[in-house]
Amino acid sequence: MAEVTLDLRGMPKAEAYAELKQHVRAVLEGIDDDITGMATMSCLLHHAFGHLWTGFYRVVTPGRLLRVGPYQGTLGCLEIPFGKGVCGASAAKGESVVVADVHAFPGHITCDGRSASEIVVPVFGRNRELLAVLDIDSEHKNAFDEVDRRELEELVRWFQR
Ligand code: SME
Repeated sequence: MAEVTLDLRGMPKAEAYAELKQHVRAVLEGIDDDITGMATMSCLLHHAFGHLWTGFYRVVTPGRLLRVGPYQGTLGCLEIPFGKGVCGASAAKGESVVVADVHAFPGHITCDGRSASEIVVPVFGRNRELLAVLDIDSEHKNAFDEVDRRELEELVRWFQR
């Protein structure tokens, strides 16, 4: 039964991601639409882990500007220039960025004052073009590690379908 939202808190992280990836694949089976993919992943990730904010910033001007896409959580900033904040840094480098303490990250953009740590992973499309970044914010310091990085990078490979 694919059409349910799972709460995976309390499960070991690697197992939780294994279940989540399978679930996302099942829900998105037969779907070929990036926005539907972003909306579905935001929803399932957000409810699986209970983070503060989970969502996508889409590339609207390559190399220059990100604009908010589907997300779950409190109001997100609408636009982020490449190179600004954690999202902009990830977009500019085309690499994931894991921030253990956002207050120690120069230029961090505060959308919700409760945010304490963050992970941003780049989302590439079929031709390896940067489509978006996936941003997850936590109200706890040090919430994300290499397991999150690896698993989220794998999850967003769906956009290269
Ligand atoms: N913290 C982010 C901005 C986006 S929001 O928190 C939703 C950043 O510095 O990139």
